Amino acid sequence: MASLPVIVVHGGAGNIPRARESMSSAGVREAAKAGYVCLQAGGSAMDAVVEAVTLLENNPTFNAGRGSVLTQKGTVEMDAIVMDGRTLASGAVSAVRRIANPVQLARLVMDKTSHLCLTAEGASQFARNMGIPEVQEESLITEYSIMRWRKNLSPDANPVESHMGKMGTVGAVAVDLQGNIACATSTGGMLNKMEGRVGDTPCIGCGAYADNKLGAVSPTGHGEAIMKVTLSRLILFYMEQGKSVREAADMGLAYMWDRVQGRGGVVVVDPKGEWVARFNSLQMAWAAAQGGQLHYGMYGEEHFTRDIQEQKEPEPQSQEAHSPTRSTDTHTDTQ
Ligand code: GLY
Repeated sequence: MASLPVIVVHGGAGNIPRARESMSSAGVREAAKAGYVCLQAGGSAMDAVVEAVTLLENNPTFNAGRGSVLTQKGTVEMDAIVMDGRTLASGAVSAVRRIANPVQLARLVMDKTSHLCLTAEGASQFARNMGIPEVQEESLITEYSIMRWRKNLSPDANPVESHMGKMGTVGAVAVDLQGNIACATSTGGMLNKMEGRVGDTPCIGCGAYADNKLGAVSPTGHGEAIMKVTLSRLILFYMEQGKSVREAADMGLAYMWDRVQGRGGVVVVDPKGEWVARFNSLQMAWAAAQGGQLHYGMYGEEHFTRDIQEQKEPEPQSQEAHSPTRSTDTHTDTQ
């Protein structure tokens, strides 16, 4: 039953190693709960998505902020975007370094400049001007990201693995009590990317879109494919044509697969609070909070629900058949 407020978050599409599944699921549930608390207290959709994505950036499990994948040179370059559906205002940063929370910097670009996107050193200079402290690059790098970087530098690296990489990006969409809609997306990008590579995330209509009249989308997946089909705006276009959130999300992902063999996932919400989390990768950690309930899943049609107030995590009971099968999944496991 759709109701407001609602928030839906994702922790990235791809192949999540079994040992990291529970951390990924716990991370997205925590982020959805924090965003929901903000919304219930009368916070705006923008406040809620930035709060949720900040938590995901701070969580080293995810490919954003701390835990970001490394470039070919072993550095961290991050992209982030926010969009406000009330006014279509948006702010983004690309290839930004030594910033703990790129999503907060993206919000400052929206709030404090007349531009939509700042990049690289200019973004760092803007952060300094805004009083955002620079962090040591090492504080953003985890043992896990170093291990994956080394593995993919090897001449023996599986090309499919190198290409698919660790696609995880984080994002959130929300509708607040006033019916305002917002979204935010943040990423370290693709594993072992070239320095200076910018993916879909900071590109409006690709890595995010929010419009109070239509809804909001935050995607994850292979950025070059997402950009070629402008996935976020494409899904909202299908909704504009009368498709449900689920139909529109599936049509957008199917189009991306058909046209450019791109994999990924999306969280989508509409103005009434209808929402969906869909993907054509093996997994995508997602969670949603609405009507006092926490929803979450990771594989195929998996969908667990529990009371948001419950302190203890119960053994999950699937509400739909656990279905790890997927329509177009042929790629090599990247782990
Ligand atoms: N979707 C994140 C990226 O490709 O950078």
